[in-house]
Amino acid sequence: MSFQKPKGTQDFLPGAVERWQFVEGKAREVCRRFAYREIRTPIFESTELFQRGVGETTDVVEKEMYTFMDKGDRSMTLRPEGTAGVVRAYVENKLYGDPDITKLYYIGPMFRYEQPQAGRYRQFHQFGIEAFGSSDPSLDAEVIALGSQFYTEIGLTGFTLEINSVGTPATRAAFREKLLAFLAPLRDVLCKDCRSRMDRNPLRVLDCKVDQARFEGAPSLLDNLDDDSAAHFEKVKAHLDAMGIAYSINPRLVRGLDYYTHTAFEFKAAGIGSIDTIGGGGRYNGLVSDIGGPEQTGVGFGLGLERVLLVLEKQGVELPATVAPDVYFVALGEAAEARIVPLLNEARARGIVAEKDYGGRKMKAQLKSADRLAAKYAAILGDDELERGEIVLKSLATGEQRTVALASLFDSLK
Ligand code: HAM
Repeated sequence: MSFQKPKGTQDFLPGAVERWQFVEGKAREVCRRFAYREIRTPIFESTELFQRGVGETTDVVEKEMYTFMDKGDRSMTLRPEGTAGVVRAYVENKLYGDPDITKLYYIGPMFRYEQPQAGRYRQFHQFGIEAFGSSDPSLDAEVIALGSQFYTEIGLTGFTLEINSVGTPATRAAFREKLLAFLAPLRDVLCKDCRSRMDRNPLRVLDCKVDQARFEGAPSLLDNLDDDSAAHFEKVKAHLDAMGIAYSINPRLVRGLDYYTHTAFEFKAAGIGSIDTIGGGGRYNGLVSDIGGPEQTGVGFGLGLERVLLVLEKQGVELPATVAPDVYFVALGEAAEARIVPLLNEARARGIVAEKDYGGRKMKAQLKSADRLAAKYAAILGDDELERGEIVLKSLATGEQRTVALASLFDSLK
């Protein structure tokens, strides 16, 4: 009997996991500079949180959730995204009020039951941020700027940004009627998905890839914004312009989750087949109160880390893959071995990356291991050296070697 990982999941093995650590490290670093602090919330939450938060008629809630009954007969769901849980925690822990702006970030696994392909997994990982407590358009722009800085600092090039405004629920209700009037004569020729979206979530019809050609001349939400939403959007654009962040306006961009108001945006990059969205987000001014909190606004993003890593690989960006030892200890004989064990321990305590042979093997085999690990130095200790209180330090890059006093080994290594 042998086991395999569940479909749509991945093992991140040593050699690849360092790439994750690098990217996650950059995310933390950028967040620190922007004053976003980490929040960790449960990986599962009550199913109702996502139904209410993400929206009943979204694909995510309708088709993609990992939902199960726990032994206490409660319906639980593995989080399909990060925002709903963070908003729940924000409300439950009363993070609002002091300070008036709460800026949070998270890095972790999300779960969606989707058809796996390159860049699409059932367990995937997001770096996300959420900022609560201000409707200032400069906060929307800051969220976008943070994402853009993150991509740039991990070495990604050629990514693009699309933005749109989806207005307020009232704007959308009015627009919905206009859109339905446009779509009504097309109903019979539209695909099955479109027809069902017309009834449940008409704005998402315009998102359809299959029927795109039929939507020429469709009314645009962007042309039908109320004055406040239009003014908000203008200011977001002006801030982006001032920061030199390039974007294009995509009036069809509605995003797949229901909570957005005003700004919606997506980052795109080529390189993973037909999948190009490496991140997305926007403002969600009604969500906090929708799930039982006070009237507090929010804005944030979620970036797909698998996708980012795939694009980096495609672009040939070199990321750290291994931690090579500074020194590899080679012991020849039992007495030397006994001396090496505390030396190795001391090296590590002094912050030196150190390794040794564990097999009591011949010198040649030990040096081979040191080479394979790409160690910088081999520190070779035999009986003769031990007697004289010395050790041989060999540079594995040049082959050059010298004998140093055991007492000054660590100084020599530095
Ligand atoms: P989302 O657009 O559903 O937004 O997901 C954000 C990103 O997660 C996507 O752009 C993509 O890079 C990645 N992603 C989504 N599904 C998968 C998958 N099956 N496999 C691999 N990567 C995937 C949200 O989740 C919102 N919570 C973002 C947000 C935060 N909006 C406001 N605050």
